[in-house]
Amino acid sequence: MFDPSIFTESPDFNAASLEAAKYIFSRVHPALSEGKQFVLGMATGNSPIKLYEELLTLFRGADLDLSQFYTVNLDEYYPIPQAHEQSYHTYMMQHFWGPLQQISGTFNPQTQALIPNGEAKDSTAECAAYEDKIKALGGIDLQILGIGTNGHIGFNEPGSDPDSRTRVVQLAEQTIQDNSMHFAGDATAVPREAITMGIATIMEAKELVIIASGQSKAPIIRALKDAKEPQKDIPATYLMDHPAVHFFVDAAANAA
Ligand code: F6R
Repeated sequence: MFDPSIFTESPDFNAASLEAAKYIFSRVHPALSEGKQFVLGMATGNSPIKLYEELLTLFRGADLDLSQFYTVNLDEYYPIPQAHEQSYHTYMMQHFWGPLQQISGTFNPQTQALIPNGEAKDSTAECAAYEDKIKALGGIDLQILGIGTNGHIGFNEPGSDPDSRTRVVQLAEQTIQDNSMHFAGDATAVPREAITMGIATIMEAKELVIIASGQSKAPIIRALKDAKEPQKDIPATYLMDHPAVHFFVDAAANAA
C-alpha cells in the first residue's frame, strides 16, 4: 500500500506544479548553496511543464552557483534525431536547460545534462553507457516522474520487470495514442520504441517526486491507492517499496 500521507492535493495543475517545484527546490537549494553536488532526474511530457517554469523562477531568484548541478533524463524516443521537434532533447532545451543556462552561465547542458541518445547506432551500448554515467555521478538525488494513463513510469510499460535497467523498449499502444497529441494527432508518426531508465534504475534514486494532473490520470491514481502490493501490470505500484516518494496531484487527478 502507498501511505496516504505521501499524496499532496492541490486545487489545479498550476497549484500542484508550484507545490512540487517548491518541494524540489527545498532539496536542491541547500545542497548547491553549500557547494555540494545535486543530481536531479528529469521527466518530459505535459505533467512537468509548469513545474519546470516554477523551478526556473526559483532558480532565477536564488543566484546559485550551478556548477555542481547535474540533470539526468528518464528517457528518449528511439530512434529519433536529437534536433527533431518532438525529441525529448528538444523538449529539455526548450523547457529547462536553455532557460537555466540563460539564468546562470554556471550551468552548461553540454557537460551537465544527460539524456539517452536517440541517434545512437548501437542502442545496447548506449543503454549500458547511460547506466555507467549515472553511477559515475554517484546516483540520482531526486527523480521527477510523470505517470502514464496505463501506469508506466519512464517508458517502463506494463509487464516491466522490477530488476529492469536502462534498455530499449516497445511503447504500449496506449502510450502511442496518448502521445500522438504531440505529433498532430497522428499515431503513426509516434516512434515505436524508446530508451528508458529501468525500474531498478529509478528505484535507486534517493527520492522520487511524481506529478499527475487532470481527469485522464484519475483512474490510474485510484488504482495506485487501491493496490495492496506491487503489480507488474501497473509499474507505478513498484514505487510503494521506495522509502521516499511524494505524489503532487491536482483535484481532478485525485477525484476518482
Ligand atoms: C516522460 C515519461 C513518461 C511521462 C508519462 C506521462 O519522460 O517518462 O512516463 O511522464 O507518459 O506523460 P504526460 O505528462 O504527458 O501525461
